[in-house]
Amino acid sequence: MRKVWRAVLDAVTPYEAGKPLADLAAELGLPDLVRLSANENPLGPSPRVVAAIAREATRVHLYPDGSARALREALGRRLGVGPEQLIAGNGADELLGLLALAAFERSDEVVVPQPSFEPYATSVTLAAARVVASPLAGYETDLDDVRRKVTDRTKAVILCSPHNPAGTIIRRPPLVKFLESLGADPPLVVLDEAYCDFADDPEYPDGVALLRRHPRLIILRTFSKIAALAGLRVGYAVATTDTCDRLNRVRAPYNVNRLGQVAALAALEDPEHRDKTRRLVLEERAFLSEGLRKRGYTFPPSQANFLLVKVPDAVALRDKLLRAGLLVRDGADVGFPGHLRISVGLRETNEKLLGVL
Ligand SMILES: Cc1ncc(COP(=O)(O)O)c(C=O)c1O
Repeated sequence: MRKVWRAVLDAVTPYEAGKPLADLAAELGLPDLVRLSANENPLGPSPRVVAAIAREATRVHLYPDGSARALREALGRRLGVGPEQLIAGNGADELLGLLALAAFERSDEVVVPQPSFEPYATSVTLAAARVVASPLAGYETDLDDVRRKVTDRTKAVILCSPHNPAGTIIRRPPLVKFLESLGADPPLVVLDEAYCDFADDPEYPDGVALLRRHPRLIILRTFSKIAALAGLRVGYAVATTDTCDRLNRVRAPYNVNRLGQVAALAALEDPEHRDKTRRLVLEERAFLSEGLRKRGYTFPPSQANFLLVKVPDAVALRDKLLRAGLLVRDGADVGFPGHLRISVGLRETNEKLLGVL
């Protein structure tokens, strides 16, 4: 029998994102169902973004700028790097795939804290490389353990800060110590900062600033969270010119669509909306945390736009919340059985959630 599919696919299950929200709401007869399971932006996009998308809509018959030049230039100005140090992706997700395609070979080892954002391990497995799991210490990334697992066979380390799903961060001193400990010929170190805009710990490091001294770093960021563009799929990597050149060689010609590019640009030009989102998430995160604490729940202090809450019966509580019109994530789906991962919502939603609890 002809073997047409790659053997590694047997080890991969399709990513289960759940039913479309509208379908689930219709099925449950809950038209006002609020999704708190995907760490989306509760405020929605800036009106300037909406206007930019509307303007661009008449031009969707034209291919986008394949290199996303205007977006990279604007981002570069903001981050203090050149446009050649940036590559845009169809979500940060795509950049993980590009990295795997560009760097991972059969039997390479990639150290990944476990649990963490599921697509890391999937991209490694798809490349026929090997995931070397480094268990979290409770809810924290254990950099000592990660370091111990780095060998000559290690192609990359994939770190996430703020961590999904734990919500914890890697502070500057241990991160710098870890990077220094890797020596002069380190593996690639991916630092996924998808939720960086919600961190307010003074020791939260600026990954981009570390690039100068650590050229094998790849910083991943996204417009999905802070800019509320999850539905348009725009992410980016900040790295050295050489790394970006390598990633560009495996990128599809028009990977970021026209609407996504103008929306991301408009979002960059609306710092007020960005500040409003950050303020809202930080305030509501504190409100939710306080309310949960008062009700006896425990959870790691979050630096992201979600909380990972320990609960006695996650399945039953998730069902109860769903019946009340609030969709949250069962921690078992993201490596934390006995927990619920709950995105921070608007005040009214958070009050409702606390009411049910
Ligand atoms: C840690 C982490 N990295 C990356 C992503 C993907 O971001 P994007 O929507 O840009 O693909 C997510 C999405 O939830 C995430 O949680």
